[in-house]
Amino acid sequence: MKTPFVDFYNHHNISPVKQDIQDIEKHYNRRESLYHILGIPPILLSSKSILEFGPGSGHNSIYTAKLNPDKYYLIDGSKVGYDALKELFKNKNNIKLYYSLFEEFNLNEKFDLVIAEGCLPHQKEPIRLLKHISSFVNQKGILIITTANGISYLSETLRRLIRDKLNIQNETLENQLNQLRPIYSSHLKTLKNMSRPVDDWILDNIIQPLNTVKLLSIPEVIEALKDEFEFYNSSPSFKEEWRWYKDINTEDKGFNNEALKYYYQRNLNLIDYRFNLEKHTSDIGIEIESLCQTTWNIMCSIENNDMVFTWNDLFENLNLIQSKINLLLPSTALAILEILNWLKIGDIEKPLNNFSQWWGRGSQYVSFIKR
Ligand SMILES: C[S@@+](CC[C@H](N)C(=O)[O-])C[C@H]1O[C@@H](n2cnc3c(N)ncnc32)[C@H](O)[C@@H]1O
Repeated sequence: MKTPFVDFYNHHNISPVKQDIQDIEKHYNRRESLYHILGIPPILLSSKSILEFGPGSGHNSIYTAKLNPDKYYLIDGSKVGYDALKELFKNKNNIKLYYSLFEEFNLNEKFDLVIAEGCLPHQKEPIRLLKHISSFVNQKGILIITTANGISYLSETLRRLIRDKLNIQNETLENQLNQLRPIYSSHLKTLKNMSRPVDDWILDNIIQPLNTVKLLSIPEVIEALKDEFEFYNSSPSFKEEWRWYKDINTEDKGFNNEALKYYYQRNLNLIDYRFNLEKHTSDIGIEIESLCQTTWNIMCSIENNDMVFTWNDLFENLNLIQSKINLLLPSTALAILEILNWLKIGDIEKPLNNFSQWWGRGSQYVSFIKR
């Protein structure tokens, strides 16, 4: 797989990123809420220029297009996604579509808002792509991206390992889907307001090869962008601002450092969407982030069969994580113990009553302002 997402989608002629938007008002309301949390009142996008990377079949772009931007350019390398976009926006003069790889896209223009939703984590070189994508933001313009880290993705990393334990990764898509659907649909049912079809979720998150790609965490993004961008907002939100604005009077406004400080006091909340913890120490935040990044590395190693890590390393790592969070998050610790024991044996008949209800806050949305 040379280009993540694109090669898998195009090889199988799929775009597994659909959403249930039958209730279009509900869909618009959730997109409005997202923009609100990110600090971008939708009214401000009217007459602005917007560039979007990886819109897929355009379900989310319908909302952005409705906000009347002056121009709205969209780039995607998926054939099925691009054809759907062409159909969706066929009579829109302010909209331009590009069937291109991100890496190969170039234009001598800058935009007020640049969006890359759901397409930077799980790239081979997410930081390099992030820098390329962010180079299209106008001065004082806004960048919106999504991130995922070991903590937020832990429950899904372990769901991938269920498939790996069943040892069906070399079977056809259809065979894998038929075996995995009964397992994951009961898990997905516990997610309130899930808007993606079960098969799309399985194809994108479980069956798609992810063993050679990377996650992309908020601290990594801040580090990569800090010379040119200031952290603005995020969903979920964790930043606080207690400084007097008159004290913030230099070009570097320190928003990145403030964001990082508060991030590490709240990042344990990314592990389980059912709970909102009070602030914890940065030390535990940093430690859990590192342990869960190791879980991701172990999963990649098991899928690559490279023997850098083994199943025993996974069991040790999970034992450590559950013991560290046991007091703060007993239900999550219980779910980890349950899946740990399941993975040791891999008995498909054994129910996962606790684990099936555990999901992390998988993706985070982050907005930045260019200096
Ligand atoms: C997981 S989908 C996300 C779709 C949509 N933004 C969403 O959040 O529902 C990722 C999209 O990015 C596109 N994509 C990913 N990497 C790409 C690349 N290197 N070049 C072009 N398109 C890419 C894929 O084709 C796909 O449509």
